[in-house]
Amino acid sequence: MRHVTLVQLFDHPITQKYVKRSGMAHAIACAYHAFQLANVHGVDPDRATKAAFLHDIGHYTWYRNGKWDYDLYKEYDIHAIKGSERAHKLLIRLGEHPKFAKEIALAVLLHTDSYLPKGYLELNPLQHVVALADNLDEEPGGKHHYRKITDERARDLLDRLDQKINSFYENNSMKHSM
Ligand SMILES: [Fe+2]
Repeated sequence: MRHVTLVQLFDHPITQKYVKRSGMAHAIACAYHAFQLANVHGVDPDRATKAAFLHDIGHYTWYRNGKWDYDLYKEYDIHAIKGSERAHKLLIRLGEHPKFAKEIALAVLLHTDSYLPKGYLELNPLQHVVALADNLDEEPGGKHHYRKITDERARDLLDRLDQKINSFYENNSMKHSM
């Protein structure tokens, strides 16, 4: 059973503010990639799509003199840490199961290692799927953060993805009941 849908997440003011800041089109593209990848890697599609949709919710704006300062960003960015906490709070508020909220928050935390000291991270399958989904939609120079999408189209795409996830569960429960 799903506790929270992607459309519910989309409609929340926190998502509207912070996911729009880092790029709604990118977030939705990643959620779609995560759905496909979840199937390949045997990961739960509900959690994978939510984590992929919210993975950049922690971005801060690094402007200096009205222009984006990439050096400042690279040096001081902690968007994965901030996003993990923000995604968790949002999910809990909307009624997500605390176990799933924690798993999604951890996948957001580990979707990039750009802010971590050098070392080797061993990702679990859900975390791996979310990191892969992000990589698949990345464009050189961070262009993926600036692609535009209308609210109407964004909501429609997420509604369709919600339906795909629902049918995945329906098909699975049919398989188990036969
Ligand atoms: Fe991203």
